[in-house]
Amino acid sequence: MNAITKILETMDYGLAPEDSGIVDAWLERHKAGFGHFIGGDFTQPGKTFDVTNPATGRKIAKVSQGTKADVDAAVKAARAAQPKWAGLSGHHRASHLYALARHVQQHSRFLAVLETIDNGKPIRESRDIDIPLVARHFYHHAGWAEILEDEFPAARPHGVCGQVIPWNFPLLMLAWKVAPALAAGNTVVLKPAEYTPLTALAFAEIARECGLPAGVFNIVTGDGQTGAAVVGHDGVDKVAFTGSTEVGRIIRRQIAGSGKALTLELGGKSPFVVFSDADLDAAVEGVVDSVWFNQGQVCCAGTRILAAEAVAGRFEELLRRRLAKLRTGDPLQKSTDVGAIVHPVQLERIRGLVEQGVAEGAVLHQAEAPGGCFFPPTLVTNVHPASVLSTEEIFGPVVTLTPFRTPEDAVSLANNTRYGLAASVWTENINLATDIAAKMKAGVVWVNCANLFDAGAGFGGYRESGFGREGGREGMAAYLATPSPVARKPEGAPANLDPVPAATAAGSEIDRTAKLYVGGKQARPDSGYSFPVNGPKGPVGLAGFGNRKDIRNAVEAAHKASGWGAQTGHNRAQVLYFLGENLSARAREFEERLRSFGQTAAAARSEVETALRRIFWYAAQADKFDGAVHATKASHVTLAMNEPVGVMGIACPTAYPLLGFVSLVLPAIAMGNRVVAVPSQSHPLASTDLYQVMDTSDLPGGVVNIVTGARESLAKTLAEHDDVDAIWYFGTKDGGQMVEEASAGNLKQTWVEDGAARNWSGSEGQGRLFLGRATQVKNIWIPYGE
Ligand code: NAI
Repeated sequence: MNAITKILETMDYGLAPEDSGIVDAWLERHKAGFGHFIGGDFTQPGKTFDVTNPATGRKIAKVSQGTKADVDAAVKAARAAQPKWAGLSGHHRASHLYALARHVQQHSRFLAVLETIDNGKPIRESRDIDIPLVARHFYHHAGWAEILEDEFPAARPHGVCGQVIPWNFPLLMLAWKVAPALAAGNTVVLKPAEYTPLTALAFAEIARECGLPAGVFNIVTGDGQTGAAVVGHDGVDKVAFTGSTEVGRIIRRQIAGSGKALTLELGGKSPFVVFSDADLDAAVEGVVDSVWFNQGQVCCAGTRILAAEAVAGRFEELLRRRLAKLRTGDPLQKSTDVGAIVHPVQLERIRGLVEQGVAEGAVLHQAEAPGGCFFPPTLVTNVHPASVLSTEEIFGPVVTLTPFRTPEDAVSLANNTRYGLAASVWTENINLATDIAAKMKAGVVWVNCANLFDAGAGFGGYRESGFGREGGREGMAAYLATPSPVARKPEGAPANLDPVPAATAAGSEIDRTAKLYVGGKQARPDSGYSFPVNGPKGPVGLAGFGNRKDIRNAVEAAHKASGWGAQTGHNRAQVLYFLGENLSARAREFEERLRSFGQTAAAARSEVETALRRIFWYAAQADKFDGAVHATKASHVTLAMNEPVGVMGIACPTAYPLLGFVSLVLPAIAMGNRVVAVPSQSHPLASTDLYQVMDTSDLPGGVVNIVTGARESLAKTLAEHDDVDAIWYFGTKDGGQMVEEASAGNLKQTWVEDGAARNWSGSEGQGRLFLGRATQVKNIWIPYGE
């Protein structure tokens, strides 16, 4: 029987191997080993380690293990090149990025084959997805460089960026980080993953080939120690990391207090929600693209299928049928669907987790896979939401299937994870789809699609999936620094507190202690203590001495007020206007209060007036700080929604006891957040006087909670609290470091400064910057057409 007849009988694919000759020859030319790429040239190889092709187990290259001295040399080269690079016109920088894009396209087949050999991913994916997206990123960011001055007028680059990337999309992660960094005028020291450094090194050759100025882009190869040396280097101004949540946490702690900007793109355990009216055949292909793509080594993979009970059985059957057809094997074969796992260490990790799951009762449905570093595409049923397979990031082609009853169940199961990177929602009902998309705690939601990426849309997580976005306007913004406030004077240490039992307050029978404000009610401090608040001539009143318990109660109250975030901007604006109106009616009292702390009449009047204007400004913004609709893929709209971050802790500066509080709390609540605020430690009474104003302004209880007391210890409790999503701390430099360190537990977003007191009365005390910090962008992808 001839081959064609045979193929027609079996309907099997014939072999279609990709030719790797050119790449093999390139590897052969470099067989002595690769050095680092520093200052526009490759260094001599140092101590090297082997890089292997995971599909064959063969050693393919020797790569240098970067030392501290190598990192230092690279940072120095980047530092030296940075002013000139930033000094080029946007158009000139754009021409360099454009050249990189063009050259990536010219070398695209080479890069795709090299990526496949180095990483194990099917050539179909590296050729059709990874490399085209790399080129797209450089083109897109060439555009940002071109228009930067108009689009981000006051911004400037950070300086030197230290970037550490993982092995799952080696060249694509490079592009995601390098393109915006260079567009903004930063220079870069990049550390590729130790399993997959080769396309980065090939890219360095391309950069040299297209005349990128020396030192603008540098590579130091090596393992986690090299990565730690890059992010920890004093000469690095901004750190960007993609990888495991564990390492993200280490980096957060390592650079706390350094003043370095940080973005983290970490792990995920994303839900894939299938409603009963979904197009099940399309959803099956969605699962293929979501979790059997790239061997499941995808941070945003939809690893938890949640299927409506009515269709769960049918969906399982369809998935099992599809699973059986997936071809796992040689990644260089063009008909291969699933390639090799990146490294035996990862294979062992996957096997270990799956075995644990089976021991917990999980049932596996698996396709065929060859021996070696391959893991069969796997569907897992009979898994409990608390099972290891439902909670841990497996980073392999393994997906669980769990039925749900109602849309509410689906939402709570979907959000029952510490991560929040992505979600995929399948239904033919647009109302349901958008409702569920809004309720997903995730940075990206794909409606009736999965794993779509584009340089024009932001990508990044909520919760322990990290913070910051890559791609889109917000990704560009992450590589730009807004002008720091001019340090007129450092934020002084707040007044010492001298707590006294509350009952003996001020020696009078009347208890004049300003209470805490929790859940819309005044609350006595748990400690039973108060502290005197002093003016120039001695105590002018007492404030409650709040403690951990009070913070916990306040956080709980803030969580209960979640309806605030779901209100329309118009409704929130009305409440804030009312707040302004009510404060205005009592302006004199507030001026008196500020004067009692020793302020002049003019200063007190000006502080109250500015606070009032600020309230109205944020009221006006409540229904205007909108998101965007991005033009990404054809036949898709990508909605970039500004969502509230959630429950925020706010530690206020010492100075400007009223204005500091208003300047921070108002943008947060205007955007729909709930707040636990620690007012000025020295003069909290200007903020506690606001209780009555808030009570009479229809502000729902729990939206603003106030705990007075020792700022540093209250801020620490807030920073450590797992149910707080973000913390803003405007205190001392040491306090800022403490807050950043303590925030690593749940990787909450932080905003701290270097201890230089802001001039809250001027323009730096108000603006879109505050609104941006009070929101996180969720990108919702919705396809249209047939
Ligand atoms: P990893 O987080 O250790 O590696 C990612 C990158 O960070 C590599 O370049 C590595 O050299 C570097 N690195 C490691 N320790 C570092 C440190 N202390 N400071 C600076 N850089 C450091 O991830 P690993 O060990 O390769 O994979 C373990 C698990 O992490 C995977 O099974 C997967 O669950 C998860 N992971 C998640 C990724 C994602 O994109 N979400 C990517 C890679 C891994």
